[in-house]
Amino acid sequence: MFKSLLAASVAAVALGAFTPLSAQTAQDPSATPDARADALIARMTRADKLQIVFGYLGTDDESRNGYHRPPLALDGSAGFVPGNPRLGIPPQWQTDAGLGVATQGVARVKRLRTSLPAGIATVSTWDPALARKGGAMIGDEAKRSGFNVMLAGGVNLLREPRNGRGFEYGGEDPLLAGVMVGEQIAGIQSNGVVATIKHYALNDQETERDKSSNAIIDHGALRTSDLLAFQFGIEHGAPGSAMCSYNYVDGLRACENPMLLTQVLRHDWNWPGYVMSDWGATHSTVAAANGGLDQESGFPFDVKPFFGAPLAAAVQSGTVPEARLTEMARRIVRSMLRHGVFDTETSDRSDTIDYAAHAEVTRVDAEAGAVLLQNRNGLLPLAASVKSIAIIGGHADKGVLAGGGSSLVYPRGGNAVPGLKPDTWPGPVVYHPSSPMAAIRRLAPNADVRFADGSDPAAAAALARSSDVAIVFGTQWAGESFDVALTLDGKQDALIDTVAAAQPKTVVVLETGGPVLTPWASRVGAVLEAWYPGTAGGEAIANLVFGKVNPSGHLPATFPASLDQLPHTEAPHGGDVHYSEGAAVGYKWYDAKGFKPAFPFGHGLSYTSFRFSRLKASPSADGLTASVTVTNTGRRAGAAVPQVYLSAPSGVQWEAPRRLGGWAKVMLAPGETRTVTIPIDPRLLATWDEPGHRWNVAAGAYGVTVGASAGDLGERTSVSLPARTIAVGWRPASALRP
Ligand code: BGC
Repeated sequence: MFKSLLAASVAAVALGAFTPLSAQTAQDPSATPDARADALIARMTRADKLQIVFGYLGTDDESRNGYHRPPLALDGSAGFVPGNPRLGIPPQWQTDAGLGVATQGVARVKRLRTSLPAGIATVSTWDPALARKGGAMIGDEAKRSGFNVMLAGGVNLLREPRNGRGFEYGGEDPLLAGVMVGEQIAGIQSNGVVATIKHYALNDQETERDKSSNAIIDHGALRTSDLLAFQFGIEHGAPGSAMCSYNYVDGLRACENPMLLTQVLRHDWNWPGYVMSDWGATHSTVAAANGGLDQESGFPFDVKPFFGAPLAAAVQSGTVPEARLTEMARRIVRSMLRHGVFDTETSDRSDTIDYAAHAEVTRVDAEAGAVLLQNRNGLLPLAASVKSIAIIGGHADKGVLAGGGSSLVYPRGGNAVPGLKPDTWPGPVVYHPSSPMAAIRRLAPNADVRFADGSDPAAAAALARSSDVAIVFGTQWAGESFDVALTLDGKQDALIDTVAAAQPKTVVVLETGGPVLTPWASRVGAVLEAWYPGTAGGEAIANLVFGKVNPSGHLPATFPASLDQLPHTEAPHGGDVHYSEGAAVGYKWYDAKGFKPAFPFGHGLSYTSFRFSRLKASPSADGLTASVTVTNTGRRAGAAVPQVYLSAPSGVQWEAPRRLGGWAKVMLAPGETRTVTIPIDPRLLATWDEPGHRWNVAAGAYGVTVGASAGDLGERTSVSLPARTIAVGWRPASALRP
């Protein structure tokens, strides 16, 4: 069966290469995507429709029955859907993912491309414009590499900080994650490339993700947490597609879950895009198609084809209505039309990629996303005149760590630290060849800069003792298909303690995929969380350490003081996973429980200081508007991130004492003052009314507080609002046209 499916698609694509269309409504770029899609659909046969809803793995895989990709698929790519030369429908060439153009499997040739910093780093910038710029950059590389569908961006909430893929996502707050990932999506799609918001929904950890993991959560809590992140992401990015996830939700597979795929996405949000399955996440024909799945992906990742011939039989017998197949196909072509795929040349022109310009984009992102967690006695920035520096551990002499799995972007210049285990999936462990030590040497040309790899703590301590300052690089490798412990890998905690005991001026630079425990924090001077900083990460770290760039990143996730502060002290092991914390994800949980974390959500220091004053809030047509005056009270230029937190009127129960309502990122010269206005979405003032299927804003006085973090709150005011309901399909005027 699989062979004949493949043969059919090969025959279809062999008829001719794709050329952009002209003439007729279907081919007229000035016609609306809906009109063009209707015109095309009218000409599609059932076979045409069946073909476009079925996707292949884009790369050969001997381990899957000797699978060979369709001839037009790009070697090492995630996926391929044949085009339709008769109708002028281009193939869909699909590539991972959110950090740049990745290479899958045992490709003969790896695509060597620019890697953004981890998604969690981009979100730490709290700068939507930067997220969009990064998206535009990787979308450009995708287009020039011959792709027109990018399997990005990931917006799963960091409900479980041990999620091995937390580094790909947007942290723990639905607004922050949704806005930042949505902006990245908009950037990608500015290239005529469809982006794919994922993994829908509640794929909030990797353990047993494609086996027994069954997410169970109260539906009101779901609306105000994970779904809200997707909703904001869709409104900000208008992704052409969404990827349903591996896990079960409420006992039903996410890719055949009518509540998620049909009720929420289509009916409630009126989203016109198409749902593709994650690779291997389709498990049925009728339930999936009727539940709302539009495209089966990555065959033969699924044990057998569920669309293709079985779907043809189901349509023939009427168990899947013909109209449903038509809708599936229409959604796909409509998204391709809406996002310019028909009107954009898709071919491999990777020799035209401007890697130098793209390195700048990723470096600026890494600099703005690194978070200065601690800086005792102004240890940082280091003066260029420092005489000697001990650099310890983390392969900092060679490069910066990347996360593992399908999002991995292979670096130009090769893996700086080859041979680390695991070297097969979810590895290889890759270090981008951007050495922090080399960059530090360039910024302190007269300093004696020496390296100890950290394998011998006594030797590292001796080097630290004999130097003016020590910089220890602490790493945690995270990746797809596994969850992580909330610690640095191996014995690095002990190494940091040993070095700190020898050298009071110890700086710790973290390269982790998410929060980790920092038991040594009180014994070191400074801590800089650089996440996985991407292609130019070494330069970015050095620029921050020497103050060429003033840190301005803020945490999108809470760093716990201990494991017993987490909602699940032990990470869930699959099976029924009861997310009993509901919508109290991350900082909301800490607030609700009165826990004091090691470093709170929103936290991030600067080499200058800021004052927030004159907080005001008033009702607006949509919700609320807050304004705050921000002053740079220090002696360096820097960017502040005033955060507005909301609290419920008395008598109204929210999941937690406070929700993030909005923020601004404000660049200020020394002594400069500016007043910023921060609009607040009314759904952040509401509770979800499950029986009424709408949002309710209760009458009462809402608290509005400005903070430098969720743990450092300043002025507070309140605004009285009348009772109001908000329809489930309400969208703010600023939402992108889908
Ligand atoms: C991942 C997706 C990815 C897909 C294609 C899956 O393993 O979960 O994020 O897009 O593979 O590579």
